[in-house]
Amino acid sequence: MSTTTTITATVNNTATPKGRLPLDGSPTKYGDFRDSLNRDGYAVIKGAIPLDRARKYANEFRPRYRRDDPSTVKQSNLPVINEKGMILAYGVTHEKWVWDIRGEPGVIEAFAKVYDDEDLIVSFDVVNVQFANRQGMPENKPWPHQDQDPSKPGFRCLQGLVNLNPSGPNDGGLIVCPGAHRLSQQFHREMADEPRIPAWTPEWFGFTESGMQWLKSHGLEWVKVCAEPGDLIVWDSRTPHYNVAPSGTQDRLAVYTCYMPVADASQEDLRKKKDAFEKRLGTTHWPNARYVAGSNVAMRDGKPCPKSRERPIQEPVLNERTFRLTGIPYIKQES
Ligand SMILES: [Fe+2]
Repeated sequence: MSTTTTITATVNNTATPKGRLPLDGSPTKYGDFRDSLNRDGYAVIKGAIPLDRARKYANEFRPRYRRDDPSTVKQSNLPVINEKGMILAYGVTHEKWVWDIRGEPGVIEAFAKVYDDEDLIVSFDVVNVQFANRQGMPENKPWPHQDQDPSKPGFRCLQGLVNLNPSGPNDGGLIVCPGAHRLSQQFHREMADEPRIPAWTPEWFGFTESGMQWLKSHGLEWVKVCAEPGDLIVWDSRTPHYNVAPSGTQDRLAVYTCYMPVADASQEDLRKKKDAFEKRLGTTHWPNARYVAGSNVAMRDGKPCPKSRERPIQEPVLNERTFRLTGIPYIKQES
């Protein structure tokens, strides 16, 4: 794959481009998932990946446990997974199967429709796995939050995850507060004096007890998003959300996939993103490489996990479309 091809993209960080979904709660008539996304702040795109391929991807996640023997689901057989189910290291975000998911036409198409733009870049976000009945894990306490700085209102980012295992009412998965994106500005205006939950980034805001009360008093409720393997769930970063671990017998497996127009990224962002890709490092959900992980080393009990690795087990195989999603071909050559 040549890295010298340059694709010209217009950079526009100010006005909302014509054709982009406003995410303002107003009624729309697209006749597809965009109507519920605009109204509720989240949507499920059924069968974004065909079932057979979703099953194939789920089978490519292979820690050293036996699916038929829950007693093997223990620390020594697994990568380091935090209490929220995130695998943050080991280059997992650049595994071939994860990139193959990012390149799925039905997944890319959903974001292209929302942004009315085919020139997209994708986040190098994490894989989420949560085992049913797993012992010895810290409790996954609800951490209702939005992934957007309240001082930067308006629709800025559409998050997404591809669901790979059945996710019914009692299974692990995403919890959202539908419609709260519409009241986001009002919420932050009225709750401006509420003490903030400490966060490592201004792009994260946690809802306190009184914040939760505010949502409730404005008629907003929380729902578990149910999905089947191959479904894509998308949500506005202002929509409050968190995840829950399984309470039944079904493991959770999901890959976070967030895309944004390359036009929303600067050349500096793209160069940072290229560096992250070449070093096989992860990012958060921001596709413009707002944050890049410092390394692929996972810490286990305060020490580097001996299984840490700098590169994925199987290197990604990019095609023309997925290579564009890295942002690299949009980097202008310096003269
Ligand atoms: Fe989040």
